[in-house]
Amino acid sequence: MTKPPIASFRSVSKHYGTHYALCAFDLDLREGELLTLLGPSGCGKTTVLRLLAGFETPDSGEILLDGRTLAGVPPEARNVNTVFQSYALFPHLSVFENVAFGLRMRKLGGAEIRDRTESALRMVRLEGLGGRRPLQLSGGQQQRVALARALVNRPRVLLLDECLSALDYRLRHDMQLELKELQRQTGITFVFVTHDREEALSISDRVAVMRDGRIEQLGRPRDIYERPANLFVAQFAGESNVLEATVTAKPGPDALTVSVAGTPVTVQTDRNFVIGEKIALVLRPEDLHAHDDATGRGGLAGRVLERTYRGVTLDTLIALDAGPRIKACEFFREDAPTLDHPPGQRVRVGWTPGWEIVLPHDAET
Ligand SMILES: Nc1ncnc2c1ncn2[C@@H]1O[C@H](COP(=O)(O)OP(=O)(O)O)[C@@H](O)[C@H]1O
Ligand SMILES: [Mg+2]
Repeated sequence: MTKPPIASFRSVSKHYGTHYALCAFDLDLREGELLTLLGPSGCGKTTVLRLLAGFETPDSGEILLDGRTLAGVPPEARNVNTVFQSYALFPHLSVFENVAFGLRMRKLGGAEIRDRTESALRMVRLEGLGGRRPLQLSGGQQQRVALARALVNRPRVLLLDECLSALDYRLRHDMQLELKELQRQTGITFVFVTHDREEALSISDRVAVMRDGRIEQLGRPRDIYERPANLFVAQFAGESNVLEATVTAKPGPDALTVSVAGTPVTVQTDRNFVIGEKIALVLRPEDLHAHDDATGRGGLAGRVLERTYRGVTLDTLIALDAGPRIKACEFFREDAPTLDHPPGQRVRVGWTPGWEIVLPHDAET
């Protein structure tokens, strides 16, 4: 049983001057999901939110909420709320009144306003701080007020535009967890916008990776990271070593032998390639391990350029004999004393067969 989408973009285009911010954009939002729009600056993420919120109108195409067109429906009648990066709180009003503002505008009764405002403040763990002014709160607390102010309206869809970007690293991680929890508790559909891949992967039910006004791939975080649709998605979703290679043989179903600058490597893929075709071999740093040249066999030969101690991991930058530099990122293990390879040492770089990502060679990226 599939529920109808809570909101849909159907072939929506939007341009500014001669530039298309969105181009025949399609998206179905599922009820109760946390969907993230992930993409570089300028790819159209904010435009998607502004169109759904009603601050912009599409040039063509249609946007639906609960099966009804939003054409001609003003922002205040849409039951969609937005939380921005800049908290946009009223500095002269108390926290309570900031949160209650929307309800007062809707002329609800005093008791209902109090109950709903207090409940929203509890949800974001600000109970007891309703009497303060926004500037008497920390950045993280102000962001929570902005969240409460949106949640108090019980929107059908909550839009969050880079809303954690202004917070420092620790707080940002805490807030990511809180947001996710809040989303589960309330069951409200969240559309979250970020250009931070870790943030996108860690909080989302689904991620839409965008480029130039289009969705390149829409899927669960794990699919995006482990089964990227193309090189752009692979590189945007995570740190990647990309090696150019040429298909030399097809030893079996789903297996290819490729040549990485003369070194034969067997890889697995369910995509179709022809012999002689150029491919991109994508290797995640955490999937790679380097071992001493003398002891190792297979893999790709190279020389250690640099090591970076990072506490949890040891990162090794290796210049492959095949040309490119690649990075291996290894966890410390008591039983792997040979992890630490000094600069200059010859090593072979290997990985668990099948963990490589094989993609068509893309001249653009
Ligand atoms: N009001 C506007 N006037 C002109 N160009 C705009 C306007 N809003 C957005 N754009 C352009 O549309 C494209 C998409 O913008 P935006 O949706 O804000 O991207 P993102 O949020 O992914 O950074 C960008 O090239 C941006 O410069
Ligand atoms: Mg933006």
